[in-house]
Amino acid sequence: MNQSAMNQDILDSLKPHFERLQNVHMKDLFAKDKARAKTYTRKACGFTLDFSKNNIDESAFNALLELANDSGLAEKTKSMFTGGIINTTEQRAVLHTALRQPKHKSVLVDGVNVVDEVHETLFKIKSFVDEVHSGQRKGYTGKVFTDVVAIGIGGSFLGPKIITEALKPYKVSSLNVHFVANVDAHHITDVLKKLNAETTLVVMSSKSFTTQETLKNTETARDWLLAQGAEFSDISKHFMCVSSNISKATEFGIDPDNIFPMWDWVGGRYSLWSAIGLPIALALGYDNFAEILAGGHEMDVHFQTAPLQDNLPVIMGVLGVWYRNMFGSQAHVLLPYSHYLRGFPAYVQQLDMESNGKSTDMDNNPIDYATGPIIWGGEGTNGQHAFHQLMHQGNTVIPADFIMPIVPNHSEVEHHQMLAANCFAQTQALMQGETINEVNQKLIAKGFSVEEAATLAVHKRMPGNRPSNTLLMESLTPKQIGALVALYEHKVFVQGVIWNVNSFDQWGVELGKVLGDTVLSAIKGETVDSLDSSTQQLVDLFKSHVN
Ligand code: F6P
Repeated sequence: MNQSAMNQDILDSLKPHFERLQNVHMKDLFAKDKARAKTYTRKACGFTLDFSKNNIDESAFNALLELANDSGLAEKTKSMFTGGIINTTEQRAVLHTALRQPKHKSVLVDGVNVVDEVHETLFKIKSFVDEVHSGQRKGYTGKVFTDVVAIGIGGSFLGPKIITEALKPYKVSSLNVHFVANVDAHHITDVLKKLNAETTLVVMSSKSFTTQETLKNTETARDWLLAQGAEFSDISKHFMCVSSNISKATEFGIDPDNIFPMWDWVGGRYSLWSAIGLPIALALGYDNFAEILAGGHEMDVHFQTAPLQDNLPVIMGVLGVWYRNMFGSQAHVLLPYSHYLRGFPAYVQQLDMESNGKSTDMDNNPIDYATGPIIWGGEGTNGQHAFHQLMHQGNTVIPADFIMPIVPNHSEVEHHQMLAANCFAQTQALMQGETINEVNQKLIAKGFSVEEAATLAVHKRMPGNRPSNTLLMESLTPKQIGALVALYEHKVFVQGVIWNVNSFDQWGVELGKVLGDTVLSAIKGETVDSLDSSTQQLVDLFKSHVN
């Protein structure tokens, strides 16, 4: 039996539980068991995870844990943490966890302890950040830096951006960090026009140093610096780069002393813990960056050591599989009730969809069961006045993660009470719903006629029985956000193991890049005969307006 067929068998073991529970309403499960909330709540690493509002009972939960166990999770986790070549299509180890290992630890890759290299780089980050903050590093006219333009895209952008945003209260210097990702020049030109070249530092982040958007934006920033009066020899004072492709970076003109290394055993979407996190350290200070790493490490230890039934990434992972493979849920929504965490859904979107959006298994077989869901979301309470309608009454079930820091970083108690009330009430409304009868009675009590009430009740009824996890964080500290990111990384890993996919490659993004180059040649006037008639028409239309 191939591995994919085996994983299908493992998934099939859930069927009797699904058949038993598919028509059971969660509010009846709550009514029957007063201890339900307690039974399905776990605490670890500063989190409280209440997963009681899910369509599970004890034997379904146990079956889900067994599924994780039968998929070889323990062995695969060990392999990941110890540098096994688990990214088989690229023949690479997957060691983002080594980036947050304390100094005295050892993780060997080809006989080399990578933790030593990691800490050498951390020392380089610390020294650089201290020099910038103290004003020891200066721009080409001798002025201290006031702004940083961080250029990168995907994993070389999302992590640093959302963490810097999330930890705004921890900003330690007057340095302003601006992130630029899109090749749409509206972005970089809008940013640069507010800045003074003499006091602007550029940090270019690209693991591969081949990403078109990042290279173009870096060239534009370099041209801007020169156009503002800097000499070519001044570039080294203003341009830093993070890359694993040292030769390409030097070829591009980056001073070798200004290159922060990263390694091929760190995937782009898992890289914020490496020097890719340099903009975070510049904004928040090195000590806060170190705390983020410590939080990630704490979650690593929890994931490796907690029993499956108490293991947060495992619980969240298997619940996702339950809905994707049994209930046919196509999507999963992330709802941070925190303005500062507003970017988190976009971060997890790349993490999850680039990792598990796969249809070939680890043994090269096509997969005929569902794998990674569509990840989306947005900050609460804003979403309640927009897309929650579909979550409550649409005819598709979307499991949700409600995420909220319990203690805020402000002192507006009433605001925070209202935020929390909305968060908790949404989980209740999704779970409990409201039957036609309940709606009817309320309408009649309000004075509607029996006929009017009956007509309106069919529209106002709420099915309920819609699953959600509530993930409470003690507060939004550097350590806690490090643990939050690592929690989702490991959740995605657990699901990848169960689905038997390689969660660490991303071949699906390649064809678009290649075709993008061909279309660009056509736009620039070269004769290209491989374009279909629609694409050719779009190129011709574009060329008739822009030359
Ligand atoms: O195109 C996808 C991707 O390769 C992501 O996996 C990665 O995070 C992003 O592009 C940026 O890549 P790089 O850091 O090599 O510029």
